[in-house]
Amino acid sequence: MKTIIFNENNLEQAGKLIRDGGVVAFPTETVYGLGADAMNPEAVKKIFSAKGRPSDNPLIVHIADKKDISKIAREIPYEAEKIIDRFMPGPITVILKKQPGIPNEVTAGLDTVGIRFPSNITAQRFIKEAGAPIAAPSANLSGKPSPTSWKYVLEDMDGRIDGIIEGENCDVGVESTIVDCSSSPATILRPGGVTPEMLKEVIPDIKIDKGILKQLGKGEQPKCPGMKYKHYAPEADVTVIEGGRAFVQGEIDRLLSKAEGKTGVLTMFGDHKYNAGAVLHGGSTNEEYASNLFMRLREFDELGVDCVFAEFQEQDGYGLAVRNRLYKSAGGKVIKEN
Ligand code: TXA
Ligand code: MG
Repeated sequence: MKTIIFNENNLEQAGKLIRDGGVVAFPTETVYGLGADAMNPEAVKKIFSAKGRPSDNPLIVHIADKKDISKIAREIPYEAEKIIDRFMPGPITVILKKQPGIPNEVTAGLDTVGIRFPSNITAQRFIKEAGAPIAAPSANLSGKPSPTSWKYVLEDMDGRIDGIIEGENCDVGVESTIVDCSSSPATILRPGGVTPEMLKEVIPDIKIDKGILKQLGKGEQPKCPGMKYKHYAPEADVTVIEGGRAFVQGEIDRLLSKAEGKTGVLTMFGDHKYNAGAVLHGGSTNEEYASNLFMRLREFDELGVDCVFAEFQEQDGYGLAVRNRLYKSAGGKVIKEN
C-alpha cells in the first residue's frame, strides 16, 4: 500500500480517505493518532491490523464539537459534564456509557466508550473534514513508544496505512489523561496532560486507579539487556533511577560501571558528567520531560543504545504521567531512593 503524505493544505483529501473507509494518521497535542471512521467497523478493523494491536483493547473516539458527545455517549453524568466544560478541547479522555450504535470493534465489546476532543487545530479540521467521529489509538506499532513527531509515524506505518498528515511535533508528548466517568466517583485510569491537581479543582473526591504505577518488588534486580516489554518500549533496555540528585547520579554511575553494551543516560538534573555512550536530556521539569520522553526513547534506538538509565524525580503535577510512562518503558525496573 502506498501511504500518502498530507499537510494542513490538503486536509479535505485526508477527510475523504476516512469517508472511503481508509486509515489516516494525524497530529494531536498529545501524540499522533491512527484514525478511521468510528462508525465503520471494517475501517476500524484496519487500525488493529496496521498496529498489530490486540482486538480486546478499545479505541478512543475523537470529536471536534462538544455537541457530538451525546451522539456517542448515552449518559453524561455531572462529573463528566464538569470535566468536559473545564478541560475540553484538551489532553483528556472521558469514559462514558456508549450509545448502542457505536460498533463493538471500537469499544472491544465494552458497554463504555472513551471520548476525546483534541485541542490541536489540524486534528479538529481533519475530524470536521471527515464528517465523522474518528476512532484512533496512538500511531505507533503496538508496544513501541507513541510517536510525537510525524517522522516516527512514517517509520512505524509507511506502507501499512492510507495516509499520514504531516504536522508539528506534539507538545504535551504523553497520551491524554483518561478519566472513567461511567461510575461514581470518577477515577483517573491513565495520567496525562491534565494533572490530578487540575482535576481535583472540579472533582475534589476523584480517585486515582491503583494500577497506574507498578515497580520492581524487593530484591529484584534490573538486568541489562533483559526481557522484552509490553508498553512504550524502545529496543533498548530501560531502568529508572528515582529520587534526589545525589542518589540518582551515584546509582547511575554505579550501574554504568557494570553495564554491558552501548549505554545511554536520560537526564533530568543535567549537571553530571556520565561515562556513557550517549547522554540525552529529558527535561528539567516534569512537564518538559513528558514532552520529550517518547522522542528521546526513539533517539536512543537510533543511536544503537542497548541499555538506558533514566534519571527521575517527581516534581510537579506532570510527575505522575512521566513516572507512569517511564516505569512502563522500563518494564517495572525501577531503583527508588527510600
Ligand atoms: O492522547 C491520546 O489519548 C491518544 C491520541 C491519539 O488521542 N490516543 C491514545 O490511544 O493514547 P491508545 O489507544 O494508545 O490508548 C487508549 C487507552 C487504552 O489503554 C485503552 O485500553 C483505553 O484507552 N480505553 C479506551 N476505551 C476504553 C474504555 N471504554 N474503558 C476503559 N479504557 C478504555
Ligand atoms: Mg497507545
